[in-house]
Amino acid sequence: MKTYLVTGAAGFIGANYIKYLLEKKYQNDDIKVIVLDLLTYAGNLGTIKNDIDDKRCVFVRGDIRDRDLVNGLFATTTLIMWLTSLQKVM
Ligand SMILES: NC(=O)c1ccc[n+]([C@@H]2O[C@H](COP(=O)([O-])OP(=O)(O)OC[C@H]3O[C@@H](n4cnc5c(N)ncnc54)[C@H](O)[C@@H]3O)[C@@H](O)[C@H]2O)c1
Repeated sequence: MKTYLVTGAAGFIGANYIKYLLEKKYQNDDIKVIVLDLLTYAGNLGTIKNDIDDKRCVFVRGDIRDRDLVNGLFATTTLIMWLTSLQKVM
């Protein structure tokens, strides 16, 4: 079974990516999608509510700078998509 770790999945690109994984690419397949997001101003849990309700999906609120957390998630992960970002408009 493949396990995807998708960081920043409560953001624009990540939310669309996990929908693609769960609803299209692996619609009927046994995969696990771990969503890691800090839920900053840019993260919106509402946009991925249906996805994280999917039993194949696990939501973790956390920071990609948390080495212990990320190393723990790496241990079970097949593929990682880094989609976090921190943008500032001056
Ligand atoms: N949106 C675009 O059109 C576009 C185009 C090309 C490339 N990209 C790139 O894709 C990536 C994602 O873009 P986006 O538009 O989805 O961004 P976004 O701002 O919509 O989402 C970023 C997500 O990252 C999360 N996040 C921020 N810091 C975090 C941290 N330290 N730990 C965990 N989560 C954290 C936020 O809570 C948010 O959910 C960026 O690297 C961006 O440069 C975006």
